[in-house]
Amino acid sequence: MKKVLSGIQPSGKLTLGNYIGALKNFVKLQHEYLCNFMVVDLHAITVPQDPAALREQSEEAAALFVAAGIDPSKANVYMQSHVRQHAQLGWILTTLTNMGELERMTQFKDKSEGKESIGAGLFVYPSLMAADILVYNADLVPVGEDQKQHLELTRDLAHRFNHRYGEYFTIPEPYIPEVGARIMSLDDASKKMSKSNPNPGSYISLLDPPADIRKKISRATTDSGSEVRFDPANKPEISNLITIYSQCAEISVAEVERLYEGKMYGAFKKDLAEVVVGVIEPLQQRYREIRESGEIFDILAQGAERASEMAEQTLVDVQRMLGFITK
Ligand code: TYM
Repeated sequence: MKKVLSGIQPSGKLTLGNYIGALKNFVKLQHEYLCNFMVVDLHAITVPQDPAALREQSEEAAALFVAAGIDPSKANVYMQSHVRQHAQLGWILTTLTNMGELERMTQFKDKSEGKESIGAGLFVYPSLMAADILVYNADLVPVGEDQKQHLELTRDLAHRFNHRYGEYFTIPEPYIPEVGARIMSLDDASKKMSKSNPNPGSYISLLDPPADIRKKISRATTDSGSEVRFDPANKPEISNLITIYSQCAEISVAEVERLYEGKMYGAFKKDLAEVVVGVIEPLQQRYREIRESGEIFDILAQGAERASEMAEQTLVDVQRMLGFITK
């Protein structure tokens, strides 16, 4: 069976961007692949985190995975730190990575811009991400557009290892949705929707009360025209809202355009809010049930146990290939 691996950071509220770009596809892929989905706490600490907040956000993110429709009897849901082999292979891959490659990563450049002190973890972040993927020999990695460059580096590292030590790693393919791979901010369509944006009006959190979601969508920036037409170059704000509609209603962009031909932005936004709430409200209902039941800890323990078994096999093989004395 082919394998899928992906992860989401517990560094704030999960957004509608995370849902459309990644989580929604996790749910789809679990029926056809052996799936591993993690909450990447090791990656989250590459920037300072408040311990109590990190703990809460980690539990929240794991529960949201399940609330979104990941079935823990089909896919492994776990914390990255519970599978120690990620960090171990991460170190090995760090030694195979060139400084220049890491310096070119746009995410590193964005996150370190203007900062006086930059943690070394932030710099080597992509080597750990490569280990996340390669430790399972994953075939497919569902991610949003912003992770594409990290995936390319992962592929390069897999090739490099295979070239130096012998064919071993599967070269993973990114799975980036054609529509919705980059959901933009509601207040500025030149920026990605992000949980780290200080303006909460710029993003929809999966845990926002429905009334807030309606308010945020009604206040979303639009151009001064009136045509509900998909044209990212000239109408980036409306195009972003059309994308969100299309992904939440599961209809094509062309169909959204057809539905709103001759209609005003106000009517479109009102319907869009209901479409988004229609997805998020039942998800929140399941989320509350999962949190109340406390079942997430069993799910995480089981997921980590199954994932560790796969990861250990790879780590031992790799250590042997490198010339380590293995246990
Ligand atoms: P993170 O936590 O920033 O985001 C999680 C996933 O959500 C996608 N995403 C978006 N998609 C569309 N529109 C948006 N506005 C948007 N914002 C975020 C991201 O592309 C991502 O797929 N480095 C990763 C986590 C990670 C990982 C991995 C992913 C660690 N190890 C191994 C895949 C495989 C990250 O920071 O994602």
